[in-house]
Amino acid sequence: MANSLFRKKKIESILAEGGDDSHGGGLKRVLTVRDLTFFGIAAIIGAGSFSSLGEAVFKGGPGVVVLFIITGIACAFTAFCYSEFASRIPVAGSAYTYSYASFGELFAWIIGWALIMEYSIGNIYVAFSWSDYFTSFLHKVNIHIPDYLACSYKEAQKAVAKGSSNMELINAWNSAPMLGNLRIIFDLPAIIINLLITYLVYRGIKESRNFSNVMVILKLAIVALVILVGGALVFSNGLSFNWTPANDEGIRSFMPNGFSGVMAAVSGVFFAYIGFDAVSVLAEESKNPQRDLPKGMIYSLVICTVVYILLSMVLTGAVNYRNFDGVGDPLAFIFETQNLNVPWMQILVSVCAVVAMTSVLLVFQMGQPRIWMSMSRDGLLPPVFQKIHSKFKTPSFATIITGLVVGVPILFTDKSFVLDFTSIATLFAFVLVCGGVLLIPRKEKTAGRFNLPYINGQFIYPLIIALAGFLFYKYGNGYFSDAMNFDFSGNAEYAEGKVSFMDLATPKISIIVFWVICLLLVIITFIKKYSLIPLMGVTTCLYLLTGMTKSNWAWFLGWLLLGLIIYFLYGYKKSKLAAE
Ligand code: ALA
Repeated sequence: MANSLFRKKKIESILAEGGDDSHGGGLKRVLTVRDLTFFGIAAIIGAGSFSSLGEAVFKGGPGVVVLFIITGIACAFTAFCYSEFASRIPVAGSAYTYSYASFGELFAWIIGWALIMEYSIGNIYVAFSWSDYFTSFLHKVNIHIPDYLACSYKEAQKAVAKGSSNMELINAWNSAPMLGNLRIIFDLPAIIINLLITYLVYRGIKESRNFSNVMVILKLAIVALVILVGGALVFSNGLSFNWTPANDEGIRSFMPNGFSGVMAAVSGVFFAYIGFDAVSVLAEESKNPQRDLPKGMIYSLVICTVVYILLSMVLTGAVNYRNFDGVGDPLAFIFETQNLNVPWMQILVSVCAVVAMTSVLLVFQMGQPRIWMSMSRDGLLPPVFQKIHSKFKTPSFATIITGLVVGVPILFTDKSFVLDFTSIATLFAFVLVCGGVLLIPRKEKTAGRFNLPYINGQFIYPLIIALAGFLFYKYGNGYFSDAMNFDFSGNAEYAEGKVSFMDLATPKISIIVFWVICLLLVIITFIKKYSLIPLMGVTTCLYLLTGMTKSNWAWFLGWLLLGLIIYFLYGYKKSKLAAE
């Protein structure tokens, strides 16, 4: 049994399938480095920068810039690992296919299962954010959708329970028509955009290169304009004091809520980076995947990191970070009358945000059916997931199921839930991809291909961990002693029963587990001389996971368990490898 759980697909057989037509091979190899970089940016810049940035800034203050840098570095290590896989296995299928060759079937299934979070559940967040900007645009041109048709039920319910000052949400709750005891509240624009995107993908929109490139240029142009106009106004209006705002104790600081406040923003910040890995699904359409995919991923990541750093500086300079509470359209918000007061920028940003997020929706909604097709070909999902529409030549069934997986939860979830869920699962998948690179045998360098540089981690990795530990100890304001302290009697919210023991203990347990894993890696690396880059990928992504809360872990582990049950009931028996 144990052997068959870790049965691996041979790289040669994956490559052979990649060349046959049914596997999506036979596609025209037309994409260049520039196209791939643009595709990366199309997938990366979306709801994260246009929407979740607001909440991230509210939690971490200007210091959230530091988290963008850490996350950018973690993603760069991961991108190197994706690149190594992409250069060895240049077929579509993304992390799922890679892990099938390195870790074996069980982990491949788990990754495929976690990628549903990234591709489909992530799109729920993007659809909600799309709706935020769309309704705010309509509002500016005097078209009003009733509040109860422009937000999610859960959001309105939470706002009332918390006594929020967000009048739109309160109004949605109070003015909603009733069906028996149930209030009719749902996000209509989010549902409509999902239907539209599903229809386009079903009909086989071949997002033409030119169309997608135009969208990316538009996106970058508007973000550049926000940075230039916003940045200039921060200086000309003398607002740079906002970069060191006062905290509750009246102390001015770049990180008003401390480093733990910054880390609390991890879901939103990480979400902003998700997408660079989607470039790997284009392996079979790029001219020279082994050389160009890695470049496309890294270039798009570098460009987006610079954009995010500048954007968060402008946002936190323009407006005090506390004012971003509950703001779903922060890039337009900073130009509102009470802030920088530039009305034309508000409209322009809203229109461009809607376009930008549409391109993200398309990328992910096209990617999900491809991954399911790969899984179905391997026997892990029913054959119907490979069904190709006779006329449109698209994976029709898988596309409709994707539409349902995105569309139905729009009725039952809210933004913060799907954001956390997506980020934790994607980070988990990234840990496995980097871990996979550690496990595959080293290869000879081949000219003209991406070769992940081998840097022996034997001594360097223990040194890095020791240095990091020292810095946390010295400058972390009681980081380690705090992590070991499970006495919450002094915590007011705990005393009032508002938070449970596990709510408070989970971040501490995560930190302890993280350092224990680091120590284990130090020992194994010392013995096995592991390669430094994937090791750092594993370590940095694990570090970001320490920012997740108890409910994130609970939901994620529940999801994994469900996945495992399905695997044992279906994929384990039906797998193509089971027949070999
Ligand atoms: N990074 C993508 C976005 O921000 C998922 O929309």
